[in-house]
Amino acid sequence: MILITGGAGYIGSHINKLLNQNGYETLVLDNLSKGHKDSVKWGEFVDCDLGDEEALNDVFNTYDIEGVMHFAAFSSVAESMEEPEKYFKNNFENTLTLLKVMKEHRVYKIIFSSTAAVYGIPEELPITENTLLKPINPYGESKLMVENRLSDEAEFTPLKYVSLRYFNAAGADFDCEIGENHNPESHLIPLVLDAALGRRKSISIFGDDYETRDGTCVRDYIHVNDLAEAHLKAYQYLEQDGSVSDIFNLGNGTGFSVKEVIDVCKEVTGVDFEVKIEGRREGDPDFLIADADKAWRILKWTPKYDLNEIVESAWAWHQKLHGKK
Ligand code: UFG
Repeated sequence: MILITGGAGYIGSHINKLLNQNGYETLVLDNLSKGHKDSVKWGEFVDCDLGDEEALNDVFNTYDIEGVMHFAAFSSVAESMEEPEKYFKNNFENTLTLLKVMKEHRVYKIIFSSTAAVYGIPEELPITENTLLKPINPYGESKLMVENRLSDEAEFTPLKYVSLRYFNAAGADFDCEIGENHNPESHLIPLVLDAALGRRKSISIFGDDYETRDGTCVRDYIHVNDLAEAHLKAYQYLEQDGSVSDIFNLGNGTGFSVKEVIDVCKEVTGVDFEVKIEGRREGDPDFLIADADKAWRILKWTPKYDLNEIVESAWAWHQKLHGKK
């Protein structure tokens, strides 16, 4: 079976569903500090903290684990600036424990949930896997430290890994069984949908003086189901003899500005709401756009969903989550 750490979280839960739909047995491991138990609708579940080596050993002794998908991590850039230690402990040190236990149990396949935050303010566009790695916050730094550790391990042990650098994950399961539910929420699309739902009075745009077509930041939004598909393909790739460890960007290759995202949300929901312009948020690059060509060449992965479908699925989920549908 495949162990999914952080499988009760937003992205992990979508992968859990897809793996089960494809005949894989899964074990979700989560300490429920951020994840939701009711998002674990498939496979088995164990409540365990990755920092607890003994408990983790028990899990590996109890279940027949053949590979790992590793999502368990803190993911707020802002929080990582305020409490960096938390990020290095949870995202990096706990991953070292996971890798140690995997090695002891001879589990040699891992898919790692990385991020475009490893590039910091990118020095070229679109961003390829060879673009300079220069994280500008502890969140991105902690993820890059794991990537580097994986690369070292893969050189000296039988471990094989794939690191997947996500751009802006968004959208929800089309059956509305699972979706994004962060507390507190900081991501653009769910916040805009909160405004559409009347759960907040307005949405603030953080800066309209960027060097972009309308002055607001441009991001590459990728549907969470497209991310899930990439994980499945990456795992199947690692199952093949002769495959080698690798790193892939996962994005649509198209950028949308904050204003454009808000317009699409207004159109999809049919609701108008107040939009305010505020000052810049610290550490936001003007543009983050992926070149995901390598994932196509090697994994034969290509995204299926556009921004409209992302927002439509997020809207359906958001209404259900807040009891409006
Ligand atoms: N934004 C607003 N108003 C809001 C919220 C966001 O204008 O109320 C803007 C941000 O300034 C940014 C864009 O909307 O320009 C997207 O912001 P998100 O917070 O939704 O996403 P980020 O691009 O900051 O972060 C995401 C992931 C991170 C990851 C990063 C880089 O959440 O984990 O992409 O890939 F590190």
